[in-house]
Amino acid sequence: MTPQPGKRDLFTTRFGAIATTVGSAVGLGNIWRFPYEAGTNGGGAFMLCYIVFIFLLGVPVICAEFTLGRSSRSNYFGAMRHHSRSRFWPLAGYIGILASLMILSFYSVVAGWTVEYTVQSATGALDFSDTGSYHDHFDTFVTGNWRPAMWTLIFLALNFGILMRGVSKGIERFSNILMPVLFLLLIVFCINSLTMDGAREGLTFLFRPDFAALTPATMLSALGQAFFSLSLGLGCMLTYSSYFSTGTRLGRSALTTAMLDTVVALLAGVIIFPAVFTYGMSPSAGPTLVFEVLPSIFHHLPGGVVWSTFFFFLLFLASLTSTISMSEISIAFFTEQLKIRRKSAVILNTAIAAVFGTLCALSFGCLDDLRLFGMTIFNLFDYTTSNIMLPFGGMIISLFVGWRLKRSVLVEEMTCYGTTPFRVMGLLIFLLRWVCPLGIALIFLNSIGII
Ligand code: TRP
Repeated sequence: MTPQPGKRDLFTTRFGAIATTVGSAVGLGNIWRFPYEAGTNGGGAFMLCYIVFIFLLGVPVICAEFTLGRSSRSNYFGAMRHHSRSRFWPLAGYIGILASLMILSFYSVVAGWTVEYTVQSATGALDFSDTGSYHDHFDTFVTGNWRPAMWTLIFLALNFGILMRGVSKGIERFSNILMPVLFLLLIVFCINSLTMDGAREGLTFLFRPDFAALTPATMLSALGQAFFSLSLGLGCMLTYSSYFSTGTRLGRSALTTAMLDTVVALLAGVIIFPAVFTYGMSPSAGPTLVFEVLPSIFHHLPGGVVWSTFFFFLLFLASLTSTISMSEISIAFFTEQLKIRRKSAVILNTAIAAVFGTLCALSFGCLDDLRLFGMTIFNLFDYTTSNIMLPFGGMIISLFVGWRLKRSVLVEEMTCYGTTPFRVMGLLIFLLRWVCPLGIALIFLNSIGII
């Protein structure tokens, strides 16, 4: 049976559905978070785990989210309720809402940094002859309190503006043009980095696994990064797929999304690490890494100011397509479950993120001393969402689709209601039933030292 889209606003083209899903996945997670996590987790070992997790655990969970979203045409809660009477499953939806608001908060801070750097690049304020200055310059900015906070709020205001315009009109048009341009720019920078003196050292760091560095903590970080980068585990892909048309092939879309997302992360790594070693920087600088390395790269390029302005602007746009997707999670919940108007839901979503986003922005400055488990608010939000809440959410979703969901629903969705073949059904079911939940559980237990 083909579900009726009802009054829901569907993506108008298949390309639009894919581009928007990729737009959600590709963002700061690839270009900012991936290099910094790879850098602090020893490079190659992290990278190896990351790739394995993307395809072994990530792709099946995307398929599971897509199946739930399109079959129910609903948000996380609605989807769980649609398929099960149990009160237990929808509970995971609350974790999804909480995590999405937490991610939106700290993500907006980093997106705010991209706006600051777009403006600074354009005005020529970001051009120093020695690389050390890029570190000091970023440090001065990020600890400066009011400017980072201001950009966070401005970014959230822009996010708000787009959300008010609804799904297919606003986002789709946007992603369609943006993603390919960003991709081309990354390829140019990648070629540039490969010609640097430190290219060999950078690539060795990124691609040669040092198995001694393969600690349980590294594995957990790689798992968290895989889920973060794929926008997975809290119903984001689920919510987006609820807007897919019935002809969109879910398996193919999942694989395309995962591949493009991984390629962008790899390109970012290949851009960053040769430069890190060429300019004598430290790969383990943490969240500030990319904002110190990229400007140094641009400085050495002919016409650097233009590249720099354009790149940070595109990065800002890529962040926007991601924050729109994470906002849709709570907005869909507020409107469809709590029955409040979209406008109020968008306001509520933005207001919460504005409060916590400001706290995250200040945690590099005046709130730096405020620590929980040794982490600042920013780091705490970043760490707990990616490394705990998302994989946990992914585990619940794989268990639900693997064990609880009627098999016929999975088959219908993966085959587009019997119109296209899906040859790896057995494999998908095996991965969802066993490999995803057990794999995630083992990585958790391993990281807290239980096994
Ligand atoms: N995947 C996005 C990125 O890499 C971030 C993101 C968007 C996200 N929506 C999400 C992460 C939902 C987790 C959950 O930048």
